[in-house]
Amino acid sequence: MYIKRECTSSVIIFILLCFAMQSLILFYIIKSVISSNLRLEQVVILSRHGVRVPVSLRLNKMSPNQWPQWNENPGQLTARGIEVEGLLASYFSEWLIKNNILSPSCPNDKDFFAYADSSQRTIVSAEAFVEKAFPNCNVIVHYSSDTPDPIFNPVIHNGSVNFQKIAEKQMQVAINELKLNSSFIELNSILDYSESEYCKRENKCDLSQEHNTPYVRAKYKPKVSGGLKKSNEAIDGFLMALYNGLSEDQVAWGKLKNHSQWKVVMQIAEGYHDVVYKTESIAKDLAGPLLSYMRDIFVKKNTKVTLVMGHDSNINVVLNAMSFKRHNLRNSLASTPISGKVVFQKWFDENLGKYLLKVEYIYQSTDQIRNALPLSMEKPPEVCLMGIHKCRNDDRGFCLWDDFISILNDL
Ligand SMILES: *[C@@H]1O[C@H](CO)[C@@H](O)[C@H](O)[C@H]1NC(C)=O
Ligand SMILES: *[C@@H]1O[C@H](CO)[C@@H](O)[C@H](O)[C@H]1NC(C)=O
Ligand SMILES: *[C@@H]1O[C@H](CO)[C@@H](O)[C@H](O)[C@H]1NC(C)=O
Repeated sequence: MYIKRECTSSVIIFILLCFAMQSLILFYIIKSVISSNLRLEQVVILSRHGVRVPVSLRLNKMSPNQWPQWNENPGQLTARGIEVEGLLASYFSEWLIKNNILSPSCPNDKDFFAYADSSQRTIVSAEAFVEKAFPNCNVIVHYSSDTPDPIFNPVIHNGSVNFQKIAEKQMQVAINELKLNSSFIELNSILDYSESEYCKRENKCDLSQEHNTPYVRAKYKPKVSGGLKKSNEAIDGFLMALYNGLSEDQVAWGKLKNHSQWKVVMQIAEGYHDVVYKTESIAKDLAGPLLSYMRDIFVKKNTKVTLVMGHDSNINVVLNAMSFKRHNLRNSLASTPISGKVVFQKWFDENLGKYLLKVEYIYQSTDQIRNALPLSMEKPPEVCLMGIHKCRNDDRGFCLWDDFISILNDL
């Protein structure tokens, strides 16, 4: 059974619902056993890479405290990242076989195709996936020799001054809507920002006071300079340490003690992505090349399963360009968790004689990532049903495939 925003479910609503819908569920189970004529025809998995070393090179200027040491270079996938990606891959191979789209033998190029951005962390993530999903099959991960690959590179394409003005204005509106004072104050204190190099050398001593300025130019990533971006980098540092299984005192120096504190600081990270990747014109512009790549798979290719390995920015802009409803991932600190996968599924309903779309966010909970917990059909990852405006989900969570394709064609 699916209800809108089920991923946010509070316990009470959940329990009430359980009672209220018990009989309805039973009805659907019986009905689906009798009349289940659904066939999975195609799957496109849009994934974020696995756990990586923080990318920022200015963390040391933000805090007098010692940041964790990493074995890999900034931005690279970690050994733990490979492991955690592989755990989710094992689940996916079970899931794909159970749904009869792949057989237990090695897939060929028509069965499965992996395409990764040409960065180390995305290529190695995709390799980790295929190695665990299809052991000893030598499935090749494809990627472009261009670095960066224009399909994944989140840079502005529209060179008109008018676009620049509109986009910067939309970003400014999003900046003005942020309510992050208490989050910045919490972060000031975690970082000991008033003891940082930024404070001592540049007199920047309060993250909430650093003005955020949007910047949009063709061929560059959209940017916002100021406290928001800086804070997002620091939080990424905490989050990757948490995901990578570092000891508690190495994650934000043990100062993020509970879930409510995490939620307060994570609002900054979410706010950053809202400003930089989720405003309307920017999302549409940035997503363009990846959307055409995906549209081609849906419309022209008959590859059964495609893995597209990119970044959180790619997921954010694609979801926004396709006008997905906002999602809230249960048991995840981030809205685009590491290794998380947006899974586009094309089903054929023999009763209706129609193709249907279902989209689910399949991802590991923060706990499953941090503790590298094995996954299987019995111990599954988290699954969140996604909804698209203008493509109405039925009570099983499907919308019409043709509606989805016309949405794509209108973009
Ligand atoms: C660029 O942006 C402007 C302003 O939004 C728009 O009118 C124009 O169609 C865009 N050009 C392209 C090629 O998308
Ligand atoms: C945020 O804090 C600054 C000072 O730190 C203050 O000027 C501003 O009014 C506060 N904004 C809100 C919405 O509380
Ligand atoms: C979380 O930790 C902070 C700081 O130690 C504390 O003030 C707060 O009450 C705690 N919240 C919960 C829900 O435990």
